[in-house]
Amino acid sequence: MFRIFLLLISFSIIGAEKASSVNFETGDSNAGAQKVAVCAACHGTDGNSQVGNWPKIAGQNERYLFEQLKLIKTEERYIDVMKGLLDGYSEEDLRDVAAFYANNSMTMGQSADDESLVLGKLLYKIGDYERGIPSCQACHAANGSGNSLAGYPALGGQHKEYLISSLLAYKNGERISGPNAYIMNQISQRLSEEDIEALSNYIIGLY
Ligand code: HEC
Ligand code: HEC
Repeated sequence: MFRIFLLLISFSIIGAEKASSVNFETGDSNAGAQKVAVCAACHGTDGNSQVGNWPKIAGQNERYLFEQLKLIKTEERYIDVMKGLLDGYSEEDLRDVAAFYANNSMTMGQSADDESLVLGKLLYKIGDYERGIPSCQACHAANGSGNSLAGYPALGGQHKEYLISSLLAYKNGERISGPNAYIMNQISQRLSEEDIEALSNYIIGLY
């Protein structure tokens, strides 16, 4: 069990080193605003989608957004409804689009105040040593804002449906797009469906 912890700690260290050693080139948010008309139908005009299965991307960190856009474009992360949508986007376009959404703010949701909130908070803040579950806040921050330097995504305020479906996709091996996804593939293996429900309930109201 302890080895799993060491493994996870080394993941975050490698991530942070990688982030600081490679200077991240930011995009042009104003230019990005001209390139997102086609995205609004699902993600909302500012990136705050109204539908639970369509992730909110407003206020998400730029590095994470840029990395995901590249993965989605090459279909390493396959998203059926976005298939082909990014074909005409150059790397610069993807940077601009990422900058545009990163400059907006994510709207908050509300956690249900029930038993699952207690479990969700415990797992998020402390994890479960016995079961090899690390605390989520080590990488996603205590307030859910993620780690913009390392490109670890913000989670606070995200739709519950999307949080659940993405944790299940990591767990089932459907989302295996590269070394960062691998971190979550490992962690989600140890989460039961009850844990996932509880964590997601806690995270929607986290800020
Ligand atoms: C038809 C609906 C639809 C359209 C149009 C669409 N998306 Fe998506 N997008 C989705 C869905 C659904 C997902 C999540 C899929 C999953 O569950 O992994 C997603 C995921 C994403 C993600 C990853 C979010 C995360 O938190 O990992 C980004 C970034 C993104 N979309 C950006 C865009 C951009 C930019 C455009 C316009 C060029 C766009 N999308 C157009 C439906 C859409
Ligand atoms: C060692 C660092 C680390 C820890 C600990 C960690 N995560 Fe992650 N998480 C990541 C990274 C990196 C990604 C982006 C993976 C990718 O590119 O697909 C991610 C992605 C996610 C996503 C998908 C976000 C999106 O917008 O699609 C969710 C949900 C998530 N993590 C939840 C959790 C939960 C819940 C925990 C605690 C049980 C946790 N994470 C612990 C690093 C971590």
